[in-house]
Amino acid sequence: MENIEVLLKIKEKYYPSEDIIKKAWIKDYENLYKESLQDREGFWAKVAEELHWFKKWDKVLEWNFPYARWFVGGKTNITYNCLDRHVQNGKRNKLAYIYLDEEGREVKVTYGELLELVCRIANGMKSLGLKKGDRVSIYMPNSVEAIAVMLACARIGVIHSVVFAGFSEGALRTRVKDARAKAVFTASYTQRRGKKIDLISVLEKAIENLDFVEKVILWDRDKEGISSSKGFVDFEELVKEADSFCKAEEVNSEDPLFILYTSGTTGKPKGVLHTTGGYMVQTYYTSKVIFDLHEDDVFWCSADIGWITGHSYIVYGILANGVTSLVVEGAPDYPDPGRWWSYIEKFRVNVFYTAPTAIRMFMKYGEKWPSKYDLSSLRILGSVGEPINPEAWHWYHKNIGRGRCVIVDTWWQTETGAHMVTTIPSYPAKPGKAGKPFFTVEVDIVDKEGKSLPPNTVGLLVIKSPWPSMLRTCWGEPERYEKYWNSIPGKVYNTDDLASYDEEGYIMILGRADDVINVAGHRIGTMEVESALVDHPAVAEAAVIGKPHELKGEIIKAFVILKEGYQPSEDLIRQLKDHVRKELGPIAVPEEIVFVEKLPKTRSGKIMRRILKAKELGLSIGDISTLED
Ligand code: PRX
Repeated sequence: MENIEVLLKIKEKYYPSEDIIKKAWIKDYENLYKESLQDREGFWAKVAEELHWFKKWDKVLEWNFPYARWFVGGKTNITYNCLDRHVQNGKRNKLAYIYLDEEGREVKVTYGELLELVCRIANGMKSLGLKKGDRVSIYMPNSVEAIAVMLACARIGVIHSVVFAGFSEGALRTRVKDARAKAVFTASYTQRRGKKIDLISVLEKAIENLDFVEKVILWDRDKEGISSSKGFVDFEELVKEADSFCKAEEVNSEDPLFILYTSGTTGKPKGVLHTTGGYMVQTYYTSKVIFDLHEDDVFWCSADIGWITGHSYIVYGILANGVTSLVVEGAPDYPDPGRWWSYIEKFRVNVFYTAPTAIRMFMKYGEKWPSKYDLSSLRILGSVGEPINPEAWHWYHKNIGRGRCVIVDTWWQTETGAHMVTTIPSYPAKPGKAGKPFFTVEVDIVDKEGKSLPPNTVGLLVIKSPWPSMLRTCWGEPERYEKYWNSIPGKVYNTDDLASYDEEGYIMILGRADDVINVAGHRIGTMEVESALVDHPAVAEAAVIGKPHELKGEIIKAFVILKEGYQPSEDLIRQLKDHVRKELGPIAVPEEIVFVEKLPKTRSGKIMRRILKAKELGLSIGDISTLED
């Protein structure tokens, strides 16, 4: 990341071409934004009317601080809007997804076929005794099958909780246990760099002695007959035997849709709860106007369904718009660094959405890879997950966008459910700055006391009023939910991101203000990694920080105090890394581990990660008056 002083001075602006403006759903951001603030509820009601409701809402918003209810009294089903609506409108044979794997396999699924698959799974789930309000965990690779399971849950009001297939047994167990999942859907493996990564043994260990897990449903990808030998329900059998139509349950707007776990500063991951109506409306509309989706567009979001980006912009928001999109399993640069660009050429992708960490990786491979391919179909490029440094922005703009495309740098969070800050395609973008608040979204940048700060100073980004796709609570932990709204005076939502805005109101996000680490766009909690380390017999105490890294944004660095009788060694470092990999997964493994005698602590015994970080970065340590030693 460039120096903050340099970043604050970015003035460059990139204007969209006439063609892009001509095509755009929205051409006048400034006026529409002003209008939207005057009548927030009217704005979202108008959007909601573009979708199907079994029963219209009585009230757009009920705001009982800090609890919001949107489209109160309305009845709908998100899968009806994602599937049935299109099938009934003559799009039965239109492609919903093109799935691609590392071995060059290509599977095309139409809206009609997807609807049938979802219905069959939903009926199968009913036959297993699953019903509205039950929780189901999904531990599956990025695939049409996994998406269909998510939709099948939504079809009958079951609450899904997708767990990223790159997580290991400890992380999976925490999530299944917290949600008290009645069933888990899994697959025999996930692909990564030509290898088949076994998911079954991880799952088996993760659910050991969790008696509430009544059923495991296995997608036996190579038809090896594993299900019967393990006592699992076979996914394909279940689908085959079930009826091909299942009516969409008419759920209340505020009925839960899914739980998605995400890391915070303290404790175990939080189960962010999203409900149906508001989430549906805002993911639909942000997909439509920020990615500027039109009937014949081919869209590709390179995220994984295990994260919020996949939920909102591979599945719900995109299907609600009825376009065709790509679902890709495996590594971006395997079998070679041309993989992604070859897909854009072959499927004439118009809108492409990825993370800065991927862009920086491709920068390292060099321009020669994208330059081999015809990328002329692209119109809009998106960025998400971490700040995009101007160098990566320019590389993306030049080598992928060929100078023609606009870049939308979308800022949002698992908690916000959908985009909150970005420039829309018809509006000029500034490299490195996410841009402007989305319609109806009121933001501010404040100090810890909630006082608004002037331009070009760094403070906390807060959101001043409720929005449709906001999280409704943290599963089973309302106090953690309330903390978002009461940690800063003024009844504002604290994003825990550091940000700044310039004289023209462009917002720049600088990174997390809390102890959450952003490794290659993935959110990792310091506490989770520390707990995994301390769980190893050699470790007495551990402290973990994020350290800036050229490619990944941040990497994890761990400071470890060993128990008596253990000696620091390279071998022990390897063992500790393996241990974290097994507990949490490869993304949470500390890149650096150092052994120390002591850790800086407050008098009350809390580890002061701030000091470790300042020392690591060679910065001044600041106020250390509460430091004990
Ligand atoms: O720090 C911000 C960063 O990612 C955090 C949210 O992470 P997560 O809940 O996993 O969701 C990621 C995908 C939406 C934020 O608090 N972040 C996300 N998008 C951006 C970003 N930082 C800068 N620019 C972005 N466009």
